[in-house]
Amino acid sequence: MTTKVTAAETAAQKEYAEKVRELNSARELPPIAHVHSFGCQQNVSDGEKIKGMLAMMGYGFSDSADGADLVLFNTCAVRENAEDRVFGNLGALKHNKKLKPDMLIGVCGCMVQQEHITERIKKSFPYVDMVFGTHVLHTLPQLIYEALTTHKRQISIPQMDGVIAEGIPLRRESKLKASIPIMYGCNNFCTYCIVPYVRGRERSRDPEEIVREAEQLVADGYKELLLLGQNVNSYGRGTDVDFPELLRRINALPGDFRIRFMTSHPKDCTHELIDTIRDCEKVSRHLHLPFQSGSDRILKRMNRRYDREKYLELVNYAKEQIPGLSLTSDIIVGFPGETYEDFCDTVSLIREVKFSSLFTFIYSPREGTPAAAMEDPVTRAEKGKWFAELLAAQEEIAAENEQKLIGTSHRLLCDAKGTADGYMSGHSEGTAVVEFPGDESMIGKFINVRIEECDGIFKGKIITEE
Ligand code: SAH
Ligand code: SF4
Ligand code: F3S
Repeated sequence: MTTKVTAAETAAQKEYAEKVRELNSARELPPIAHVHSFGCQQNVSDGEKIKGMLAMMGYGFSDSADGADLVLFNTCAVRENAEDRVFGNLGALKHNKKLKPDMLIGVCGCMVQQEHITERIKKSFPYVDMVFGTHVLHTLPQLIYEALTTHKRQISIPQMDGVIAEGIPLRRESKLKASIPIMYGCNNFCTYCIVPYVRGRERSRDPEEIVREAEQLVADGYKELLLLGQNVNSYGRGTDVDFPELLRRINALPGDFRIRFMTSHPKDCTHELIDTIRDCEKVSRHLHLPFQSGSDRILKRMNRRYDREKYLELVNYAKEQIPGLSLTSDIIVGFPGETYEDFCDTVSLIREVKFSSLFTFIYSPREGTPAAAMEDPVTRAEKGKWFAELLAAQEEIAAENEQKLIGTSHRLLCDAKGTADGYMSGHSEGTAVVEFPGDESMIGKFINVRIEECDGIFKGKIITEE
């Protein structure tokens, strides 16, 4: 069941924020916070809320932990290397704390929702002042207030299905592109994945809240809205709006902007969704549809609840309906029990679909997930070889795709300077980054460009019409 944070609780947190602000304003210089988000876009979006709350409490910001009065690591648990990075960075903070004993160090996010991790932090990192989980992000003002006034460690990691907190101020990273979480958590329990354990059950925000936020962002000049959820195709349970309808409502808002979304789960991706992408002019012609493995045997063991045939049917329908569609995917290599033959099914699938780009991962066992208990006889070194083989195949496909893009026209969102003087850079609706002659006055504008060449970077010419 979805629980909303009550107005009274939100007001109480605002009061704590005010008290922290008062403490901070008594200081000679405003305190500086360093917040680092280690994970996916949802995690980065939480980081924007953290920064929004900190700004409310009077903190300024720095990109570096050195000299900061508050360091917060917003962590990810999806693979072991994500966790290792956090521990490495935490170790380095010992020195900072020595130099500045009154600084605060906090660890939050997905990683600390796991008991063994919290225990390790408690034992091995005594200089960490605050550890708090994903379900209590909105209580940050209270945690900081308590840490500052009691000088006691604050540990807050309730295990619950999860809540929705509205009205948290955000400090967005970009002035052009904004992320909007439309749902939180996940119910799918893919057997390799830790996310459902650390993020709680799936819950959807009210469509009215989302549309209002989108409208405000467009009014504020944002040009790209990224709708976020672990499985956006199941958006809307408990509301009367499903995901295609949500897309149509945002698409109907006036203004020149584009809509992106991720992630779509193939088991819930429908023809209606594909038709909606086709019909809504503001929705980017891009579908991120992770297939994870090309082998039906492995898909079953992963509990993905679709097979290769269903995946290919969806992709083929999408390609047919949406010319120029850019397809991307996530893949896991070396799932427990995967054989070389299974792996070859994955390679043959990428050759068949020809994705624009891929996010590829070697399987990483996650404590407490069903896959972590499965037999896994293939060595890490062997998996490494398969992984290299997959990357080589994708490189070939990418080179082919690149050639096909030459001569095609794209509506780019100009978002940065190019690598050479006199050039600007923009993103297409898909994954292409194209440079074209221009100046900084173009940033934030949509520019029509025809791709002329590719020398490692796409170069294009501005055209007036598509
Ligand atoms: N909700 C999204 C993905 C979330 S995690 C979806 O269902 O597609 C992002 C990606 O990390 C996954 O798609 C998967 O490819 C990868 N991943 C998740 N758990 C992993 C693990 N234990 N080992 C390796 N890769 C993993
Ligand atoms: Fe993890 Fe599967 Fe949920 Fe994605 S859908 S977050 S891979 S459990
Ligand atoms: Fe995202 Fe990592 Fe958590 S991928 S949801 S930050 S485990």
